[in-house]
Amino acid sequence: KTYTCVDKDTCIACGACIVVAPDIFDCDDEGLAENILPGDQNLGIVEVPEELLDSLDEAEDGCPTSSIRVSASPFQDPKSEK
Ligand code: F3S
Repeated sequence: KTYTCVDKDTCIACGACIVVAPDIFDCDDEGLAENILPGDQNLGIVEVPEELLDSLDEAEDGCPTSSIRVSASPFQDPKSEK
């Protein structure tokens, strides 16, 4: 399983991830990237679908500030979120 979220503290809104993985990332009101998988809210709690893993790899490799975080386990416990 694969989970991802954007570290908005380091994202510089370069937009590369949104170009290579538009099904996973889009920009928020401030232009920073975030995980847009349904239900994720950039918490890194929704499993990235298999068919999007290639684009996730590309986004992770292409981010100039290494702000795309990827993990085999959820970044937060979904139950702890409102
Ligand atoms: Fe931000 Fe990196 Fe995407 S800087 S917009 S997370 S490619």
